[in-house]
Amino acid sequence: MELRLVNKTAANEGHAKPLLAALAGQAARRPPVWLMRQAGRYLPEYREVRAAAGSFLDLCYTPELAAEVTLQPIRRFGFDAAILFSDILVVPDALGCDVRYVEGEGPQMTPIRDAPGVERLASGGVTEHLQPVYETVRRLAAALPADVALIGFAGAPWTVCAYMVEGHGSREFQEARRFARAAPDVFGRLIDTVTQATVAHLSAQITAGAEAVQIFDSWAGVLPESEFLRWCQAPVRRIVAELRQIHPRVPVIAFPRGCGALYPDYVRDVGCAGLGLDTAVPLRWIRAHVPDTVCLQGNVDPVLLLQGGPALAAEVERTVEALSGRPHIVNLGHGVLPPTDPAHVQMLIDAVRGP
Ligand code: CP3
Repeated sequence: MELRLVNKTAANEGHAKPLLAALAGQAARRPPVWLMRQAGRYLPEYREVRAAAGSFLDLCYTPELAAEVTLQPIRRFGFDAAILFSDILVVPDALGCDVRYVEGEGPQMTPIRDAPGVERLASGGVTEHLQPVYETVRRLAAALPADVALIGFAGAPWTVCAYMVEGHGSREFQEARRFARAAPDVFGRLIDTVTQATVAHLSAQITAGAEAVQIFDSWAGVLPESEFLRWCQAPVRRIVAELRQIHPRVPVIAFPRGCGALYPDYVRDVGCAGLGLDTAVPLRWIRAHVPDTVCLQGNVDPVLLLQGGPALAAEVERTVEALSGRPHIVNLGHGVLPPTDPAHVQMLIDAVRGP
């Protein structure tokens, strides 16, 4: 009896939380689950707090409200992880860009397309500006149930810089790609500034209580290979290496959305503990080409979650089966879409957890 208890402790070694056990390389019969954009407009209780907060950035920078909306999906669904409620564009906001969220149009800021624009960025003081975010993390670390992990996050430098150069969201990020090619030295300085700020921001989240961090490279998929290696892979490798120096035991999940056949080399080079998989990447192929020490995260189609029905449960089952025996975290291939019915999220969770 005693021996079993000892073994159990050894097997879990500091990972009583299923999500952290998966990131440490342990396979489970039923994988842990959380969803990108699990807090947000699809939840009526979020829309209520959002309306009372005023602007979206006010919501991000008011610890009481940001902690509340982080906890809403945990209370409702019992996910295995809470992801800090914030945004990837708080980093450019802290660097002095005039980030604003325009109703119905998404984020906007004055585009940076020349050397003076890059030199003007306030590279010091990022973590001072973002203190309310770390206060939110501290509140969450104190409030979460013992088996729920707390995930911090940031955008990857390419994705954040793409918004900074474009000045708004885009499907193609033409201006960012053009600028990176026309003035690679200047663009490289922008990438370096954001990379340093991102290390500081993630490190401060971890110090405040984040137990894992995810790096969202949502627009990695628009770059050809050589530029992907330079602007996506190399900066994320640097972030992972620098974080490991400061916080050796905290796992990083990288999500280079849309990088296709480059996923296996990326994960080997970057050295992340977890790899976020987009909807399009075939799991059988990933299984064959990514070392089984890496925890795979994904990759249910958010549109299928929107549709619901028996096809959703069947797809979740297929996903769990396809990665069985390996460390896996069930998630979507991208974020929850705003018109999604919360009942479909419950169906997904029930399908993961089984009878
Ligand atoms: O629940 C969570 O996942 C935590 C919070 C979170 C938000 N944004 C809240 C948010 C996270 C992890 C993000 C990441 C983010 N932000 C990414 C990477 C992931 C992805 O979806 O590709 C990107 C590219 C952004 C930038 C961003 N922020 C955009 C393009 C938009 C507008 C589009 C939209 O969905 O409205 C935002 C605003 C935003 N960030 C909202 C939320 C809940 C909606 C704002 C509102 O309530 O009006």
